[in-house]
Amino acid sequence: MSSQPSPHDAAIKPLPLFVERDGKPKRAAITCTYKCGNACAHEAPNTSDNEYFGDVVRAALSRRGLFKGGAAVVAALGTGGLLAACGDSEPAKTAAGGTLVDGVPVGTNFQPVAPNSEDALVVPEGYEHNVVIRWGDPVFADAPAFDPAAQTPEAQARQFGFNNDFAALLPVEGQADTYLLVVNHEYTTEPQMFFGYDKENPSALHYRIALAAHGLSVVQVRGEAATGRLTPEFGRYNRRVTGTTEFVVTGPAAGSAYLKTSADPTGTRVLGTLNNCSGGVTPWGTVLSGEENVNQYFANAGKVADEPTKARLKRYGFSQGASERKWERHEPRFDLEKEPNEANRFGWVVELDPWDPAAPPIKHTALGRFKHEAATIHVTEDGTVVAYMGDDERFDYMYKFVSARKIASGGTAADRRTNTTILDAGTLYVAKFTGDHPDKIDGTGKTPSDKGFSGTGQWIPLLITAEDGRATSQVDGFTAEEVAVFTRLAADKVGATKMDRPEDFEANPKSGKVYVALTYNEQRGTAGKPAVDEANPRTANKFGQVLELDDEHAGTTFTWSVLMLCGDPKTADTYFAGFDKAKISPIAAPDNLAFDEHGNLWISTDSSRAMQANDGLFSVVLDGPNRGETKQFLTVPYGAETCGPTVTNKRITVCVQHPGERDDATAEKPASHWPDGGTGLPRPSVVSVWKKGGGNIGA
Ligand code: FEO
Ligand code: CA
Repeated sequence: MSSQPSPHDAAIKPLPLFVERDGKPKRAAITCTYKCGNACAHEAPNTSDNEYFGDVVRAALSRRGLFKGGAAVVAALGTGGLLAACGDSEPAKTAAGGTLVDGVPVGTNFQPVAPNSEDALVVPEGYEHNVVIRWGDPVFADAPAFDPAAQTPEAQARQFGFNNDFAALLPVEGQADTYLLVVNHEYTTEPQMFFGYDKENPSALHYRIALAAHGLSVVQVRGEAATGRLTPEFGRYNRRVTGTTEFVVTGPAAGSAYLKTSADPTGTRVLGTLNNCSGGVTPWGTVLSGEENVNQYFANAGKVADEPTKARLKRYGFSQGASERKWERHEPRFDLEKEPNEANRFGWVVELDPWDPAAPPIKHTALGRFKHEAATIHVTEDGTVVAYMGDDERFDYMYKFVSARKIASGGTAADRRTNTTILDAGTLYVAKFTGDHPDKIDGTGKTPSDKGFSGTGQWIPLLITAEDGRATSQVDGFTAEEVAVFTRLAADKVGATKMDRPEDFEANPKSGKVYVALTYNEQRGTAGKPAVDEANPRTANKFGQVLELDDEHAGTTFTWSVLMLCGDPKTADTYFAGFDKAKISPIAAPDNLAFDEHGNLWISTDSSRAMQANDGLFSVVLDGPNRGETKQFLTVPYGAETCGPTVTNKRITVCVQHPGERDDATAEKPASHWPDGGTGLPRPSVVSVWKKGGGNIGA
């Protein structure tokens, strides 16, 4: 193995995997607290009884008829060379990832990294990496040097934020190997950021710094000719978006009474974005970002007496009493007793145009409001834009949005601006799964011998927004605004399938097939909880699964199968598309997805709950004789999660989120010193990996 020098640069120690520690959850409690507001410790908010299609939906479906799928040709739309759009709806074309070179699928020829608990980033033999940018590094030339002992909100707003999750690399036209790195900063872990942090009485200073450490960063980065090394620059597009940046609200909930507050009586301007988890790059060159566990920033839902407001807040998991960070003490908008509608202004898909630093970012309400993991775009042959979206909560749903308008494909700045409105008109759907083997789903994960866990599915319409902005609810008892703002409750009503925490949901640009990571759900099939079903087939699912969908992208039907049941390949309840399990790297809690140029799938994990080893990035072959082969490409440092992979022939980038995040860790007593070593605080960072001496990744 090779890795950058670190204070723990000893030999890599193989670890026993999947060992229960006192039968207790393995994820650090502090991660639960600060990342997702203790979602796991609370009852899953979906207590709806939605097993069946409602009559009203059947009626709505028959009124509309089924969409026809498009034709079957891969079409490269002229999007200024940013991204090629994909073909539509035909059974998947064979991807080059199935091609063997010397018996190894192209793009995945590397020696897998062994499970380990190093406080270091570990890459395969023959690969090198550099830390591109760290929490606190300057985004602007005038940013003060990072000094965690003397941090200020003003400094943080000019520096790279905390806990990077999604990352995009957008090529800068006319400048070789130069990119805009666009990054989400999902959340803050105050005890590990601030010396002298008082959990019971957080100071106004700590509150303001934390708010400035959320949001997004845009940073120009330049490559090095002979390697994959990336170095940040103070480019003209560099930008910070924080918890106080003004956003514009668009779509059917813009101006709604549900979004109006005392500070914004128009219901169209929101300060900030929070808990930006994963995201997607649009073919028109902007970035989408999902506002995920936003409930954790708000207090006192228990003091809201009126119904249905109270029930709506409960369905979204808002805290009955004080919030963990106690921001409500410093800013009344985070106190729901004072501003109940402020809650409704978060939980959206946001869009940032990184090429126009003056443009306000957008909150798109036609895509619904839930715990958005991300939104990823697929464009059909006729230019229809499809956004795939997961609601990352136990027993919540999978959604897609199909645009009413076609993409403007000229690749000009004017086209880009036009396309930033394309997600404001179209149809929002939620997924219902049906299995092929209803009599064989016993919770053990024993895979049916004919074609594995598989079935059909239907997209149930929830909300149609016309090009003139007029929206029509497809759900009885809900206005259009209510479907947009309280999407979970509308989806409950139409019989959507309760999933095992949908994370990234994304189409493979090579084949058009769509993949979703269902990270895990330990409550599946347990006492009083929803039963196993064919798409979520394991009781007390600790390790997660990945589904493969053949979707009629712009239409309303799909077929699906379970591609992999994650976990220890030695156990009987795992499955890797039928590939020889003796050759599989152990993998748990699939989270973020990416595809390489050969059509291989890459998965980053957030598995600290399930494994005694560090998280990592894995390649998965999707086609050819090695379909299902899963290999660990890298591991991230101790206590960290792997996020936001991008994979090209020249380099792989990943975000290292929350290094050293352990329950007893503080700024005074850190559990990691990555990446700086010595006595430094752990710093969430973006990393670039390349093949030593040049050459393609996995060649
Ligand atoms: Fe922030 Fe769904 O992970
Ligand atoms: Ca995630």
